[in-house]
Amino acid sequence: MTESLGVNDTFPRGGRRLSDPAVNAVTGELVGRKAYLVGTGHCVPDRVLTNKDLEQIVDTSDEWITTRTGIKERRITNDQTSTSDLAIVAVEEALEMAGWGPKDVDCMIVATVTPDYIFPSTAAIVSDKLGMNNIPAYDFEAGCSGFIYGLIQAKCFIGSGMLDRVVVLGAECLTKITNWEDRTTCVLFGDGAGAAAIGPEGPGGELGGWHWGSDGSLGDLLELPAGGSRKPASKETVKANEHTLRMKGNETFKYAVRAMRDSCLKALDMDGTPKSEVDLLVPHQANYRIIDATARALELRPEQVYVNIDKYGNTSAASIPMALDEAVRKGEVTPPKNVVLAAFGAGLTWAGMLLKWKEEEGL
Ligand code: UT7
Repeated sequence: MTESLGVNDTFPRGGRRLSDPAVNAVTGELVGRKAYLVGTGHCVPDRVLTNKDLEQIVDTSDEWITTRTGIKERRITNDQTSTSDLAIVAVEEALEMAGWGPKDVDCMIVATVTPDYIFPSTAAIVSDKLGMNNIPAYDFEAGCSGFIYGLIQAKCFIGSGMLDRVVVLGAECLTKITNWEDRTTCVLFGDGAGAAAIGPEGPGGELGGWHWGSDGSLGDLLELPAGGSRKPASKETVKANEHTLRMKGNETFKYAVRAMRDSCLKALDMDGTPKSEVDLLVPHQANYRIIDATARALELRPEQVYVNIDKYGNTSAASIPMALDEAVRKGEVTPPKNVVLAAFGAGLTWAGMLLKWKEEEGL
């Protein structure tokens, strides 16, 4: 099992590089349209929960949380707010930046482990509330790697000529599945949503090389035990607190460091871009120590790494698009820039992707 994690040397489809032509499965024509990130947006709830606040709830300290994770505070939703509410605002911002109206969008993909409901999908709720054109809309679940998984799907749809404009979201309300009596997890997570508008034309960040993978044999390291078909909700599952997440943090940590490093290096390798040409790392924000280890593997200076874990904690699939949007709006992605994304999460899953902003392709 674990031998495969992050160490398999093959590219998808037996070693295909980006420069090789692809074939449209339907028409048989050679295709290879580029896909560009042309808009970003994010939304967090107003309510702030600080480490000091958590000291009142469980046996922890600001000092422990800060030194072990880098987190100082996180945002939490109230009882009336759910994942789709945050997602809608994030999409509105991304569409505005892209200059698209709701009717321009061809498909909506939401990566989440905390959908509003198991069904209907959060994507369908969001696209309906934003007045989109009965488009294909679906949720999928790949833990904290979900946003990059979504970008890879969008690249595929656009590259094949199947779709033109795709919105990819990472959106979570993790504090709704948090066990507030478990100090080993409740200090880590927060709520938020981030969105990206992906189209076939720039200016924007070209979706470059990628890497993705999973290892289900390690699924029990990070899980929500009940509420699915294996263990449906019952009085017993509620009593046993099995509708809240569990994590074996220490073990997860070791895999995270390796998988984040390997994901970026493999994405760069597929792209044919050396790590010396990376300008900025926008990593999944799970733990500052994991981020730091990934940055070291890429030989990046601290100012070349975007970090906002101090403000938001771990927001799972939302963390990369939230950080990316902040970086873009702060002007940290002024072209030319090679920006590498890296993630790791429940599944276990991992993923990396290179985004390439060329001189003439400002967002
Ligand atoms: O997002 C996707 C995947 N998630 C991750 O990648 C998270 C990966 N894991 C981590 O980030 C870290 O493992 C944690 C931050 C979760 C934990 O840090 P650690 O350095 O691995 O701590 P630990 O689990 O080894 O625990 C060390 C000690 C233990 O006490 P003893 O047994 O040494 O006496 C824990 O009971 O720290 C204790 N501890 C705490 N103390 C104060 C655990 N949680 C807390 C807490 N406050 N909140």
